[in-house]
Order: sequence, then C-alpha cells, then structure tokens
Amino acid sequence: MRINRKRLEESMEALGRIGATLKGGLHRVALTDDDRRGRDLLVRWMREAGLTVTVDQMGNIFGQRPGGDGRPPVLMGSHADSVPTGGKYDGQLGVLCALETIRSLNDRKIETRHPVAMAIFTNEEGARFQPAMIGSGVMAGKIPLEDAYNARDRDGLRLGDELERIGYLGPEPCLPRPLRAYLELHIEQGPILEEEHLPVGVVEGIVAIAWSRLTLTGVQDHAGPTPMRIRHDALVAAAEIIRGVREIPRKIGGDMVSTVGRLDVAPNIPNAIPGRVSMSIDLRAPDEHHITRGLGLVDRLVKEAARAEGVTYELEHYWRVPRTRFALEVVDAIEAAVRSLGCGHRRILSGAGHDAQYMAAICPTGMIFVPSRGGRSHCEEEFTPMDDIEHGANTLLLAASTLAGAP
Ligand code: GLV
Ligand code: MN
Ligand code: MN
Repeated sequence: MRINRKRLEESMEALGRIGATLKGGLHRVALTDDDRRGRDLLVRWMREAGLTVTVDQMGNIFGQRPGGDGRPPVLMGSHADSVPTGGKYDGQLGVLCALETIRSLNDRKIETRHPVAMAIFTNEEGARFQPAMIGSGVMAGKIPLEDAYNARDRDGLRLGDELERIGYLGPEPCLPRPLRAYLELHIEQGPILEEEHLPVGVVEGIVAIAWSRLTLTGVQDHAGPTPMRIRHDALVAAAEIIRGVREIPRKIGGDMVSTVGRLDVAPNIPNAIPGRVSMSIDLRAPDEHHITRGLGLVDRLVKEAARAEGVTYELEHYWRVPRTRFALEVVDAIEAAVRSLGCGHRRILSGAGHDAQYMAAICPTGMIFVPSRGGRSHCEEEFTPMDDIEHGANTLLLAASTLAGAP
C-alpha cells in the first residue's frame, strides 16, 4: 500500500498557490482572508474524500472517515497557517499528507478497526496571535478558550472576532476527545536529516519552549538638543538585552537556543530618542531546567540593563510548554513503518514547537520528519525534495494504518 505521489504533489501545488509569494514562499497568516481560502479548499477536498467535516469553537477543522464505529479514531494533522513570508512546507505538508493517507485508504477501500481522521489546527504559528499552537492548546485544556479569543494582533484585532469574520468559529466544543493516537508529519526545519542523507526522522519528542514579552519605557525626546548625559533611551537598553539574550545559551550550555525575533520601537523616527520598545524573547532547550535557569538570567539581564539606562520595564514570562516525550508505542509504530519501506531513518528531537506537543497531553502521539534543504524554515527558501516527502507520506500511511487496525 502506497500513497499517490502525483496526487499529493498536485494538491501541494494547488494549496500553495493560496498566499503564494513572488519568491516561491507562502504568506498565509492565521485568520486572514488567505487562511480562509486555504481552509475552504481543504474542506472541499475533505468532503470529496467522504469525510464528515466538523469545526470547533477554536476553528480547528476535523474530518472523519466512516468506519470503526464507536472506537476512538487515529487522528493525523498539522496546521495550514504560515509565518509572514514563510515557506510552502511548514504545516500544510502535514495536512496534505494526512489527506493523501485518507485518499489512499479510500482508493483501496480499506476498512479499519478504528476510524481514521484528520485535523487542521488554528494559529499554530503564533506569528499573528500569541501564543503559538493555540488551537491545539485549547483543545488539550492547556489554554482557556476565553484567553485564546482575547489574544490580539498588532492592530488590536481579537482572535475570536477574526475567527468569526472568516467563518470558522464553529459550534463543536473545543475539548479533549478520546483518540487512539495522533500523528503529525512535518518538515524537520533543521539540518540533521539532510546532513545525514536520511529521508525520514522518527521524532522522539520536542524541546521545552518559553516565550516572554518585554516593554521598556524610557523618555522620548528630541535627537538634537538633548545632551547624551540626560537621555533615557529605551532602544539602547533593548540593544543590551538582545546581546545578553544571545549569550544565555553559551552560559547555560547544552543545546539551548535563544531568540529575540520581534521588536517594536516607538516613535521609530530618525529624530526622536526611542521612548518605548517592546520585544519578544524565545528560549528553547531539551532540558527543562535549562529553561528555568535561562528565565532567571533574563530577569537579571533586563533589570541591570534597565537600571543602567534609567528606563522602566514590564517583563512577562507568559507561555511555557514543557519538554515533550512521545509515546513509545507510536514512536515504535512509526519506526516499524519506515523500516518496512526500507529507507534511511533516525530518531530525532524536534527543536520547533508543533500541535503534537499539546496533543501528546491527551493521547498517544508521534511525529514523522522529512528533511529541510539547508535546514532552512520560517523563510521563503523552505524546500523538501519530493522523493523524501513520498517516503515520509508512506511512513504516515503505514503507521496510521497499523494504529487504526487495518487488515
Ligand atoms: C512554531 O513554528 C514554533 O516552533 O515556534
Ligand atoms: Mn509547523
Ligand atoms: Mn512554523
């Protein structure tokens, strides 16, 4: 039993046209009109594949294949939103491989003991509304629904309102449901599989993640007549902090990484001393304790930089996802599937967050990685060769079939 490579490739091309960028990437940010158009196309394809489609209160879309009545389904999925000027593989590849798995089961009229289903989770990227993985987070009971609805984008628009506006505020309760397993295929977004010439990664778990937001308030003043000795420049304090955040992984050791990815400067003009700066701080590490120590270093760093420049600050450590270990049963099923295909593979840890991280809290969960060219992701250059995608998709098909009890 194998997937239909040509059909998968055609679906990737068709979905990739919605929000396509001139440089071959994807700009389909959560709950925008392009997100709606992408969702609409996926829902049409899901219905054409005979799935019963439902939408929950978070806009998560589910499609269930008939059969295996009464038993908990094997759910496959990922997300269809992208980061701004992102790539065509992060998220939508997992959704399309889930759909292709179902289409392939349909081709052969395979009856499974457990139903097979697919999911498209809302706002996985956390680019527009923070935090990331918000749809699966609410479903897993880790984020209150009201908090998710009240998340606001840069323009002050509410997630709940935007969900309604694009027509995906569904009626189904967004709650944990009985599931046989959750499987997610995703690009690696790092360099390991490509470096080792392996088409498939059997993901064992995901690093711990912590997100903080910091606002520094100095004194906005004229860039000319204000002598250096009386300035309180929020951007100068921010620069110290950005440099310091970069040093944290070196101080802590292990495989920790740190990023300041977002910076908002006010008034952001050439001739005023910046009065206000907001930034994001993202810490990740395989070892949970390293995150705790890293956040302690952030606290100290911010306090010292703010004092040195005479600015005030508000620092909030608002989101944390623990180190996740996937269920051995699912990891083993994925490994058995890839082994039966006879293609190269290795076990691997994910440095990116995924909906699977929250799903692991409610059911046996596992992930399949395919390589990322140059390790690049969250950029328009994202690329995975079709041969590798085919191996990954076949691994998903076989693992899902086994877990669902296909004959
Ligand atoms: C999601 O893409 C994340 O890892 O931030
Ligand atoms: Mn993703
Ligand atoms: Mn992503």
